[in-house]
Amino acid sequence: MSRDNALTLLLDMLRSEYEPSLWIADEHVAGIQIAVNPALEVLSNRFDVAEALSKQGWRSGFSDLDFSHITDGTLTSVYFRLAKEKPMVNHVINQAARVLKTGGRLMISGDKQQGIKTYAKKAGQCLVGQVEIKKHGNHYLASITRSQQPAVLLDEQNYPVLRTALGYKGMGISSKPGQFGWNKLDKGSLLLAQQLNENPINRPGTILDLGCGYGLLSLLAHGWWPDAEITATDNNAAALSSCQQNFTQHGITGSVIADNCASSITKRHDLVLCNPPFHQGFVVEHDLTEQFIATAFRLCKPTGCALFVVNAFIPLERIAKQYFKQQQLLDNDGQFKLFKLHG
Ligand SMILES: C[S@@+](CC[C@H](N)C(=O)[O-])C[C@H]1O[C@@H](n2cnc3c(N)ncnc32)[C@H](O)[C@@H]1O
Repeated sequence: MSRDNALTLLLDMLRSEYEPSLWIADEHVAGIQIAVNPALEVLSNRFDVAEALSKQGWRSGFSDLDFSHITDGTLTSVYFRLAKEKPMVNHVINQAARVLKTGGRLMISGDKQQGIKTYAKKAGQCLVGQVEIKKHGNHYLASITRSQQPAVLLDEQNYPVLRTALGYKGMGISSKPGQFGWNKLDKGSLLLAQQLNENPINRPGTILDLGCGYGLLSLLAHGWWPDAEITATDNNAAALSSCQQNFTQHGITGSVIADNCASSITKRHDLVLCNPPFHQGFVVEHDLTEQFIATAFRLCKPTGCALFVVNAFIPLERIAKQYFKQQQLLDNDGQFKLFKLHG
């Protein structure tokens, strides 16, 4: 796991917090061990992060960054390592403006190229308060003080609300901000769709959509095999609520499960569909590919197969060889590669 220095900066600060405060822990916090600070509550949109911190003894909740249980103007500090997605960052800043007491502070850490200076300035406008930014090597820590003035809310694009965000062949697809590519159809997944349209495979009875996002692969699979039972799983709260909505709306038989790379799932499937993640926060994380292939191997019936679509630079061939006896490159459009793995 790569070391995230901007996160380390934030952790150094929150260790010495003594007043009731909040720590927003997103994907950057995956794999981190940190001594419990009872002054802090943790809110995470990642199932694995919330679960791991809970096991370490933190008061930690898993939700789509839902602050609604926190009373207005009650917290001394909110700690946040800058995230990738703008609506999510603006949502956290807006909510911080609501839950911080006058004189309380929002602490944001991040790097220059991640936009920390711009976000700090915008947070200053939202909290109508003083902004202080300190540079530590290549990383920055911004402290924004909450004034008594009414907050000037940032555009968070209706962050908490599910909406029909996308369409595919006349089908409305629900999604929301807070998850990977929430408002686009992933080109890799569309390559998989095109390949299966041209070269259908035998009807699977059970399908696992591993790292389902809002459920694009499940929706495609349901179109090809309407009777198949589909299990979709992800660790991101926004993805799970969107996918559940798409299952309900499109009458998909099966279930949507919050989990860390399907670790609680034991049932083997005829077909595993996967467009695996390769980023953890702002960095490329190659270990994720292996984790997803190993899981696909574990949850694929001996007679079944897995279809993996990955960015062309991911060395899937080499990793898959350690698990599956057979691999077939079904397509490579220069940007994405599609593999059938079995045996
Ligand atoms: C490249 S996206 C693919 C999304 C969707 N299947 C599609 O084709 O549009 C990868 C997905 O893996 C999820 N993911 C990342 N790490 C995960 C983990 N440890 N366990 C489960 N899902 C994870 C992300 O939240 C994201 O939805």
